[in-house]
Amino acid sequence: MANQDFMRFSLGVYTREQTQAVLDKILSWNRAGLPSQFAVVIQTGGKLIGYCGFFHQVVDEKNEIEIGYRLHPNYWNQGLITEAAGAVRDHAFRDLKLPRVISLIHPENIASRRVAEKIGMALEKQTIYRGFPTNVFSLSREQWLQEHVA
Ligand SMILES: CC(C)(COP(=O)(O)OP(=O)(O)OC[C@H]1O[C@@H](n2cnc3c(N)ncnc32)[C@H](O)[C@@H]1OP(=O)(O)O)[C@@H](O)C(=O)NCCC(=O)NCCS
Repeated sequence: MANQDFMRFSLGVYTREQTQAVLDKILSWNRAGLPSQFAVVIQTGGKLIGYCGFFHQVVDEKNEIEIGYRLHPNYWNQGLITEAAGAVRDHAFRDLKLPRVISLIHPENIASRRVAEKIGMALEKQTIYRGFPTNVFSLSREQWLQEHVA
């Protein structure tokens, strides 16, 4: 999280203390049995290269579960986060039985938008989130079931 590209489309890089605070929050969700983040690990060699999983958000005064992701720039554009986010989406609906998931995406973040679209999400609305214009992508359990019941 000290890497500028890893932290693109956020408020900037994090200090070690800020990073620790994020990790503590994620681990507290794990301990409470709530949806949380996963490490993204390259299968060959086991190197940690990013994260992909769930965040708890309040958007337009509504509690939402977001699928969020970041990847080390050396690994961009190889389809890795599409693979990870697709697995997280299936976990959300198949195992956790969530009613819906969203992704909060900066209007200029084309790569993130593509990932959201490739895992079946569609633009639901534009809003102001934490003071910034934000695109809300979403996918409902019903929409997912239509694609996954065969
Ligand atoms: C967003 C991010 C996680 C994507 O990870 P990734 O593993 O590179 O994603 P994928 O390879 O699965 O898919 C990326 C898609 O965006 C496309 N893309 C990337 N940059 C693009 C650009 N400048 N213009 C058009 N398309 C672009 C790729 O071509 C690919 O789409 P395709 O399969 O249709 O060709 C990664 O870029 C990242 O970590 N960015 C910084 C942090 C961030 O923005 N996180 C999301 C916050 S909402």
